[in-house]
Amino acid sequence: MAKNLVIVGAQWGDEGKGKIVDILTEHADIVVRFQGGNNAGHTVIVDGEKFIFHLIPSGILHPGKVCVIGDGVVVDPEVLIKEIDVLKAKGIFRPEDLLISKNAHLIMPYHKKLDVARERLRGENKIGTTGRGIGPAYEDKVARCGIKCGDLLSEEDFRAKLKANLMEKNHYLKNVLHEEGFEIHQIYHKYMTFGAAIAPHIRNTSKFLSDALNLKRNILFEGAQGTLLDIDHGTYPFVTSSNTVAGGACTGSGIGPSKIDAVIGISKAYATRVGEGPFPSELQGAEAERLREQGGEYGATTGRPRRCGWFDAVALRYAVRINGLDGLVITKLDVLDTLDTIKICTGYRYKGALLDDFATEASVLSKCEPVYEEFEGWKAPTNGIRKFDKLPAQAQKYIKRLEELSGVEVVIVSVGAGREDSIILKNLF
Ligand code: GDP
Ligand code: IMO
Ligand code: MG
Repeated sequence: MAKNLVIVGAQWGDEGKGKIVDILTEHADIVVRFQGGNNAGHTVIVDGEKFIFHLIPSGILHPGKVCVIGDGVVVDPEVLIKEIDVLKAKGIFRPEDLLISKNAHLIMPYHKKLDVARERLRGENKIGTTGRGIGPAYEDKVARCGIKCGDLLSEEDFRAKLKANLMEKNHYLKNVLHEEGFEIHQIYHKYMTFGAAIAPHIRNTSKFLSDALNLKRNILFEGAQGTLLDIDHGTYPFVTSSNTVAGGACTGSGIGPSKIDAVIGISKAYATRVGEGPFPSELQGAEAERLREQGGEYGATTGRPRRCGWFDAVALRYAVRINGLDGLVITKLDVLDTLDTIKICTGYRYKGALLDDFATEASVLSKCEPVYEEFEGWKAPTNGIRKFDKLPAQAQKYIKRLEELSGVEVVIVSVGAGREDSIILKNLF
């Protein structure tokens, strides 16, 4: 039976989605990115070689598997072309393996400028965006003035849309943000060159996926960011500008919800967050530093140090509910190998009362005090282990407790960044 799986981040992003999508691609025929843009940084390590994908789906290292950049993604063509060039230089790019939706919106130079200028203006209240123009590109999509990948195929349409946008954007950039504007020729020629480079990949990808479903192909939907960064269900306004939750897989790729067989959430064995916004189980000082160094917690896109903290089971239960998770993948268990004690946040205390549901309001969440359950560390290496029952007893107990607290079965445990560093508890296909 064909299987169509949605993979989403269950935390604030960087859960290890890239690694897990790469290993699951072995069983899939097609991998689809359905939202976000090059704010994402998905790391895949194969035979010690590291790849970071920002736009190309993390299945691209498997020849013959088709990777689709779906309708809901925002595409910076310059970044995409650079990513293709890196793969070409290594001799592992097969043009027929990459499709880009004609409906995916383009990130334009003015989007990046607006993103950075707005953040500067927000000062202390900044969101801590990646500065890649993601928010402004999605704003234009919703305002119905965006320019799509398909528009690159018609010089006339592209020029007319660019001209109309620049009239408004230049006024705003110059008079409100006190920035320099753009001349049409600065962007037009550059984008026509990008268009020529990616034109062979531009398609009606929703139709392609529908045909593939009819042929009973296995499709993997690769989420970017994480549940708590979702525009509707995350810790607004400290979120990204797309629907990162499982529901986004349908709208962002043009297939119906009845075609999805299962939704799998990825979570680290602890928690991290990049950028601003509330993070109840956040650690400070030496404890945070230890997790950061042990886990290599520096942004794959911006290089920023990630904020680190204990596993938050309240947030995980929320992710289970919002995504309808059927299974859970726990990554980076090995990062906890040397700790004497490990904590899990099982509840929040807010104004004296115990909350057991997640609060998305930044004003409430930032005042929530975590309630912790403490675990003795296993203090033994887990990296080479390939079977669950070979894990140290305390590590098994920790995973079982996460399973219990979330109410969802753990299907994979990851104990290292490499493809092989995985304990498969359940075959998902
Ligand atoms: P993504 O955005 O969800 O794909 O995650 P990132 O690639 O941004 O961050 C995850 C980081 O953890 C990357 O550097 C991975 O190579 C690394 N990683 C993934 N799984 C594991 C694991 O089980 N153990 C360790 N030590 N590192 C891991
Ligand atoms: P992956 O797919 C972690 C965060 C930014 C910022 C907020 C808004 O690698 O998990 P944006 O540039 O999207 O407007 O920034 O969202 N953010 C991420 N954090 N992982 C990501 O992607 C992220 N993409 C955006 O740090 O707080
Ligand atoms: Mg990442």
